[in-house]
Amino acid sequence: MAEKEKNFEEVTTHLITSGFVYQGSEIYGGLSNSWDYGPLGALLKNHVKDLWLRHFVRGIEYNVQIDPAIIMNPKVWMATGHVANFHDPLVDCKYCHSRYRADQIIHEQKPELDVDGMTQDQLNDVMQSGEILCPSCGKHEFTPIRQFQMMFKTFIGVTEDKQSEVYLRPETAQGIFINFKNVLRTTRRKLPVGIVDIGKAFRNEITPGNFTFRTREFEQMEIEFFFKPGEDDKWFEFYKENCKSFVEKLGLREEKVRFRDHEPAELAFYSKATTDIEYDFPTMGWGELMGIACRSDYDLGRHMESSSQDLTYLDPETNEKYIPHVVEPSFGLDRLMLALCCDAYEVESLKDGADSRIVMHFAPELAPYTVAVMPLSNKLVDEAKKVFDQVRVDYDAIFDTTGSIGKRYRREDAIGTPLCVCYDFDSANDGCVTVRERDSMAQERIAIADLNEYIHKFLKKNQVK
Ligand code: GAP
Repeated sequence: MAEKEKNFEEVTTHLITSGFVYQGSEIYGGLSNSWDYGPLGALLKNHVKDLWLRHFVRGIEYNVQIDPAIIMNPKVWMATGHVANFHDPLVDCKYCHSRYRADQIIHEQKPELDVDGMTQDQLNDVMQSGEILCPSCGKHEFTPIRQFQMMFKTFIGVTEDKQSEVYLRPETAQGIFINFKNVLRTTRRKLPVGIVDIGKAFRNEITPGNFTFRTREFEQMEIEFFFKPGEDDKWFEFYKENCKSFVEKLGLREEKVRFRDHEPAELAFYSKATTDIEYDFPTMGWGELMGIACRSDYDLGRHMESSSQDLTYLDPETNEKYIPHVVEPSFGLDRLMLALCCDAYEVESLKDGADSRIVMHFAPELAPYTVAVMPLSNKLVDEAKKVFDQVRVDYDAIFDTTGSIGKRYRREDAIGTPLCVCYDFDSANDGCVTVRERDSMAQERIAIADLNEYIHKFLKKNQVK
């Protein structure tokens, strides 16, 4: 299917109806912009995380994984500036009371303005100029900008007072910075050292939306890579290359992915360079999947000042003492998942247009189920079940007995299962099953005894190196 024919809503509807994603709290009428991953989404997520860990932890000798707490001492967020600065500029339409992020609505209606470089007063002037229209009612009068704190606040212990206020982490990164010394001490590593973390982050977004693209609860996969100051360019390029090869392993189509270097005006004052990896989503267009940022010694420096702990590194070879610099590749797992699903989705026309099938062309090692086992007839269920038991020891597998074999194949195509195994009336005699491949629909006869090895070889053959 040509990309222009793909439609974001069509893909997301497919994800909901087939069990990748459910509406959050559905039986209570839902909760706005909250989504739960169903069995297929959970499996896909596991496989993406596995691939990421293999690539960035097992694959890079300097890196180790940790799993820090979501709720940390609130001083962490004071040190980083999140308490003071992690705000969105909020405005309400005075007529219909629709709520917007001032920077977003200005960017949409006046793309020639550099909203990232504007102060709150400048944003306010544009909002009050009469040139920005409410997308909902078309009027042009807005309340003055109010800064809206994006961190979720809660209380620790039994009293709900200022002293017991804590925040849900808005990024996984800070759990890494505050453990920098612990990791060095306990692993006896020397720089360079990378510390990685996968976990949930929470932001009270004013304008969540586009399905799972922007939500208030999401998962990040972050790396903080610590090295000697001055080596910034080398490690930034190293991670750009590594992120590129990771994206290739995901199997996303090359023309749908771009690396966008930030303009100097977009950079934080402490950052020498930042590059975003973006994906061209159907209907929505380009959206950020992840960013790679040079963060200098900013975070460790802030924590050192704020905690009064010595976070410097003593180089055992040169005896130099310094605060390490950092390169941070930060991936949004939910956005990667969404990009993978949009990329994989195809309505393929068959028999010269007389028929069609939905296929999710996931890279085989990422597909929720690697293999589906199905008996040709209900009379063969017990024997087919033995084959299912044999493959599910090694692979994520599903057993399907309902409907015609053709319908079952289509069902598996629609969730992206790369291999279907059919146990038929000859199987008891020849000890073989028919294996059908998702994309080519080609079928071949394979000995049951060799089936696990066959699947292993198939996955290896189809792995992007
Ligand atoms: N530590 C750096 C950091 O958190 P970020 O650009 O704010 O940087 C990194 O977030 C990634 O996290 C983004 O590229 C995006 O993929 C994901 N992300 C951020 N906010 C999100 C949201 N509200 N919903 C889903 N994913 C989000």
